[in-house]
This record gives sequence, C-alpha cells and structure tokens, in this order.
Amino acid sequence: MKLCMIGTGYVGLVSGVCFSDLGNDVICVDKDADKIKQLKKGNIPIYEPGLAELVIKNYKNKRLNFSTDLKKSIKDSDIIFICVGTPTKKNSSSADLSQVYSVSKEISSSINKFKIIITKSTVPVTTGDEIEKIISKKNNKKKFSVVSNPEFLREGEAIRDFIFPDRIVIGSNDKKSNRILKNLYNPLISKGAQYVNTSRRAAELIKYASNSFLATKITFINEIANLCEKTGINIEDISIGMGLDKRIGSRFLRAGPAYGGSCFPKDTKAIISTAEKFKTNLSVIKSVIKSNQNRSNLLLNKVYEILNKKIKNKRITFLGVTFKANTDDMRDSSSLKMIPALSKKGAIIKYFDPTGYKKEFKKIKNVFYENTIRKSVESSDLVIVHTEWNDFKSINFKNLVKGKKFIIYDMRNIYSPTKIKAQGFKYFCIGR
Ligand code: UDX
Repeated sequence: MKLCMIGTGYVGLVSGVCFSDLGNDVICVDKDADKIKQLKKGNIPIYEPGLAELVIKNYKNKRLNFSTDLKKSIKDSDIIFICVGTPTKKNSSSADLSQVYSVSKEISSSINKFKIIITKSTVPVTTGDEIEKIISKKNNKKKFSVVSNPEFLREGEAIRDFIFPDRIVIGSNDKKSNRILKNLYNPLISKGAQYVNTSRRAAELIKYASNSFLATKITFINEIANLCEKTGINIEDISIGMGLDKRIGSRFLRAGPAYGGSCFPKDTKAIISTAEKFKTNLSVIKSVIKSNQNRSNLLLNKVYEILNKKIKNKRITFLGVTFKANTDDMRDSSSLKMIPALSKKGAIIKYFDPTGYKKEFKKIKNVFYENTIRKSVESSDLVIVHTEWNDFKSINFKNLVKGKKFIIYDMRNIYSPTKIKAQGFKYFCIGR
C-alpha cells in the first residue's frame, strides 16, 4: 500500500521505516528540509538502535522515500498517518494540537481519491472528531475516513515494539477502513498481534489510559520502595512476589528515580486536562504526577544525607543522565532536576553518558562532561548511577580507580550490594 507519514520524529520515522520493511511504499514528509536531506543520506536525527540500517536498506530498495512536498505526498498516498508532535502547551497541562490541525487543513485540500487519515500521534479524546470537521469543510464525507491508531513504541525498543506489538488498536466504525487496515497490519497479526477495533474516541483514550497506568505502576513501586528502605525489606522481592500474579504482571515494577521521557509526563497531564473538560476528576493520576515530581527531591535529600549535608566542593559523578538507557533523550530526565540542585549547593559534578555531551547542562555551574567512565569517577566522593546503561553493569570499581574509595548511590539497583560492599565501597541503592 502507499503510505504517507507526516512528521519524521520517533513515531513517524520508526513507523514509516517499519511499514516500508513490511513491503509498503512509504513517503516520510517533514517541513524541515535539512532533516529530509540528512535522512536521504542515511543520517538519522534520533538515537534508536537498528533504525539507521533499516532506513538505508529500504531507501536503497526504493520502498522508502523522504520529501518536503506535503501536498504531492498526500495525493500519491492511500493512507495518511499524522505523526506530528503534540507537546504540552506552555503554562498549561493540555496538549498543543496546532501541528495536528495545520496538517489536517493541508490534507483537506489534497484529497484526490478516497483517503484513510490516521492519527498515530498521541491526541486527546475527540481530536479525531475535530479533524473530521476540518476535512469535511472541503470534502464529501464519503471521500475520507479519520481513524485513531495509537502507537505504543518505547524509545530504545521502538523497532521491536513495532514488529511485535501486544495489540494493534484501530479506532473506527468505518468497515472499509477496518478492512484496509487489517490488511496493512496483517504481517504483524499473523505473528500474534491482537487486532482490536474500537470507536475512534476509545482508541484515543486507550493510549492515554495505558501510559497513565504504566506511570501509576512505576510510581506505586517507587513508593513501596520508600517503605522497604524503612523496614529492611528488599524491593526486588516485592516486585517478584507481586509480578508473578498474572493480574499484576512483572514488567514496569522496577523501582528507580522518577519516571521521565517525552510521554509519561506529557500524557498524564493531558488526560487530566481532557477529563477536566468533561468535568471528571482523575484523582489517582493527579497523585501519581505529584508523587513522581516529589521523587527527585526525595532522592536528592538522600544524597544530602549520604554526604552528611556537606555538599560544597564535594565531587559527585553521574553515570548516565538520559531518562532511561538506550536513548539519548533528556526530556524530563530526573538528572535535569538533581544536577542543577547539587550544583547550586556547591558540588562539583562530572558526568559520563554513552550518548555523549548534553547541552542541557551547558549553563549549569561546575558541571563537566567526561568522555570515559574512568575520567568521570576519578577523584569522586560520590558516584551516582542514574541510568541503567549496560555499559555500567560490569564495572569493577576497585580496578577502575586504584585506592580511591568513593561512595556509590545506585539509583537503578544494577549492582549486587554484597559484591560492591565486598570491594570495600559504601553502597546505597533504592528500596534494598
Ligand atoms: C513510554 C511507553 O512505555 C510507550 O508505550 C509509549 O508509546 C511511550 O511512552 P518511553 O517513554 O519511551 O515509552 O519509556 P519507558 O520504557 O516506558 O520508560 C518511561 C520511564 O519509566 C523511564 O524514565 C524509565 O526509566 C521509567 N521506568 C520504566 C521505571 O522507572 N521502571 C520501570 O520498571 C520501567
């Protein structure tokens, strides 16, 4: 089938490349001409393991192309995916849909044959209704159908999550669109993905409700970890003991620093804002947001305690600063709160991250990027493991810096406390 992906961010680029790898003709469109030029050269603007190879392979065999010509790309395609950004509005908690609506207007003036228009971006409930209104101003309703098809891709695992989804959610009551989309997704359905057809609004809400629930699950285990620290219990025993209950499930029960990223913080705020529009109070999600926002301060207080409240001139290392491993994404990473706070208290901070230097810390006093783990921990008083990169899992701290005995605060529980303590290091972690 001929597909047009509007927007070449995480969602549009990954989905477009994977659809082309399944044998479809895909045109990925972006208004950023330089980005399109780079993509044609195989230079990928996002850090996503395995993506570059897939782009180069499918661009070479001409199933995948890139363009800045939105009108022509829409005209040439049967299915149009809206994959533009829906960030949180400034000084508000609702989603900014300006890009969604502006591409909808473009689409409405390019309908030369029956089109399926799909919102793949995360959009609030009733956005599909709005898009339908915009397009039907200039087009007969028989000439198009607006469908919600949310994605559930995790950064760093996006290709795997696309190829092996638990479910494909199609929000549409239009039989023809359902038939076409079931055919489009057949290669994944035949591998075991569940095809779920709901109303459009239900599909829009499934996305927000899913992310909000995952954020709730993480916040829940983080708070239980606080109780474990006070009662000498190992949080990992709790995660295992709970997770074996099939009604709970073992994933997303790893305690850590606050959840971050481009989705959970944005989507939890947006669903509350949508609910308020419909006079509904989502008190559980509100408390999740509050608890998660407080978590960075909670862990910072733990750092102050570890250093006996003497932070000035203390040398602190952050191993990893991104919001999670296998991404270069810093959005809402808990390091963005912790590092400035420690700098303000006079600490001298060095950080190492496998994805390199971060401009976010450029203006923060006494924060220095080191390009090796060794250099980042040299002369350190406290080493904080902030992100669970595989690069950190087999570090032998004893050999790393001869004779130096720094304290280790493992915010991701990637080390065995007994092993680290046996090497003579003071060791703190989460909920153990
Ligand atoms: C999330 C959803 O998982 C995905 O389905 C959706 O499409 C986009 O948002 P992502 O934000 O890329 O994906 O990352 P995810 O792996 O979900 O982690 C989100 C945050 O939760 C990270 O800060 C991570 O460190 C944290 N997390 C995750 C935990 O603290 N514990 C866990 O057990 C899992």
